[in-house]
Amino acid sequence: MSVNIYFLLFFITSTFSETDVCDAFEKDCHSDKIVKKATSHMYSSDSNNRQKWKEIIHIINKTNSSYEECSSESCSCYLRTLNDDLLPWQKKGITKEDISESKNKGTHYQIINHVLYRETECMFPFRCSGVEHFILKLIDKLPDMEFILNTRDWPQVNKYGKPLPVFSFSKTPQFWDIMYPAWTFWEGGPAISLYPTGIGRWDILRKNINKTIEKWPWSHKEGKAFFRGSRTSSERDKLILLSREHPDLIDAQYTKNQAWKSEKDTLGAPPAKEVSLEDHCFYKYLFNFRGVAASFRFKHLFLCRSLVFHVGDEWLEFFYHQLKPWIHYIPLSTDLSNVMELINFAVENEDIAQAIAQRGFDFIWNHLKMEDIVCYWENLLINYSKLLKYQPVKNGSFKVIKPKKK
Ligand SMILES: *[C@@H]1O[C@H](CO)[C@@H](O)[C@H](O)[C@H]1NC(C)=O
Ligand SMILES: *[C@@H]1O[C@H](CO)[C@@H](O)[C@H](O)[C@H]1NC(C)=O
Ligand SMILES: *[C@@H]1O[C@H](CO)[C@@H](O)[C@H](O)[C@H]1NC(C)=O
Ligand SMILES: *[C@@H]1O[C@H](CO)[C@@H](O)[C@H](O)[C@H]1NC(C)=O
Ligand SMILES: *[C@@H]1O[C@H](CO)[C@@H](O)[C@H](O)[C@H]1NC(C)=O
Repeated sequence: MSVNIYFLLFFITSTFSETDVCDAFEKDCHSDKIVKKATSHMYSSDSNNRQKWKEIIHIINKTNSSYEECSSESCSCYLRTLNDDLLPWQKKGITKEDISESKNKGTHYQIINHVLYRETECMFPFRCSGVEHFILKLIDKLPDMEFILNTRDWPQVNKYGKPLPVFSFSKTPQFWDIMYPAWTFWEGGPAISLYPTGIGRWDILRKNINKTIEKWPWSHKEGKAFFRGSRTSSERDKLILLSREHPDLIDAQYTKNQAWKSEKDTLGAPPAKEVSLEDHCFYKYLFNFRGVAASFRFKHLFLCRSLVFHVGDEWLEFFYHQLKPWIHYIPLSTDLSNVMELINFAVENEDIAQAIAQRGFDFIWNHLKMEDIVCYWENLLINYSKLLKYQPVKNGSFKVIKPKKK
């Protein structure tokens, strides 16, 4: 296969081309494949640590030297996602029929004369109101439009079929859905027993988690890889099992979720206690896995200024493509084939681990502020509305959505 030949050449010549620099959208370029090669002969030479880890360090240096941070001007960081998601309608626009065909895939909203209307039913009321918060903030700037917004976890429009304009919070490249910033930036989100009404407002969490750096600066953190969460996806199993073999290096355990019936659901062990997002910051290395779709946890982990190990590159939220492997986090493939090597790499190269952790934090701190969420919504809705080929007519059965009273 050409990919293998490429990597062979890559290690014979030790030269790098621009394609070595991967990003989340370029599936074939998942950098974990590079590391698989790099680590396969790693233990043959142990003259010193840096020598041993030379290949990985080289990948990191190379990626780093060609990385350009996006400008934070009017949330332009994420315009590529927006343009990609709207591309299918750029030529022919969105018709009334497109909306009718999408109706059963989500909640129907209309904006007419700067008033927000919604069909009366919403499958997940907290999710709808978490989204409505942002739309109502912008309502004076928004032209007339209508759209279908999916509040389920799962995207709705597979690329096997024709494109339909449905807003979803998360998807893989196999879906047409148009990504919107999840309700959980304002309210809703996973309601575990620690956060019975959802994980809460992103702006408040940002500040609270940021404070942990005073309690647990890098030098005070425990040098272990940490994961707590429920078994929403079996992709998580391997780390849980490795943790039982290497408890000195990995602390990964399943917690209960609503579906929990027996220890079988926590892989044959008693369920672990939930750990708050703040308390994750006690550990140097934090794992992010997909859940049902993308995991809300991802953005929070960076706030700890711990090093994030991100497993898989399929599931996306609107801001993911700006987070780069080796710059902001360590990438792992879903089979976790290199996980022990990469944890050891981090442990033995703490300066590099800490530098990546810091850059991950800096990115989220500087480019995923509440203003950036509002700004993405604004660009999304304005750009989307320009694509509508008709003037929406108010549906008499819809209700007016007003800001919630505090
Ligand atoms: C990586 O870059 C650092 C300086 O940024 C340099 O000291 C080191 O030699 C480089 N390592 C490799 C393997 O290129
Ligand atoms: C990446 O490059 C920047 C300069 O562009 C440098 O300050 C930083 O130390 C580098 N990070 C790593 C992990 O090599
Ligand atoms: C975030 O944490 C840093 C370091 O403790 C502190 O200097 C900064 O003021 C904090 N920012 C906010 C907005 O709390
Ligand atoms: C979307 O909006 C932004 C900012 O308003 C603009 O720069 C961009 O060209 C628009 N994209 C499309 C596809 O309309
Ligand atoms: C108005 O909305 C209701 C409920 O979604 C729907 O059944 C009805 O067909 C809509 N009417 C028009 C004219 O689109």
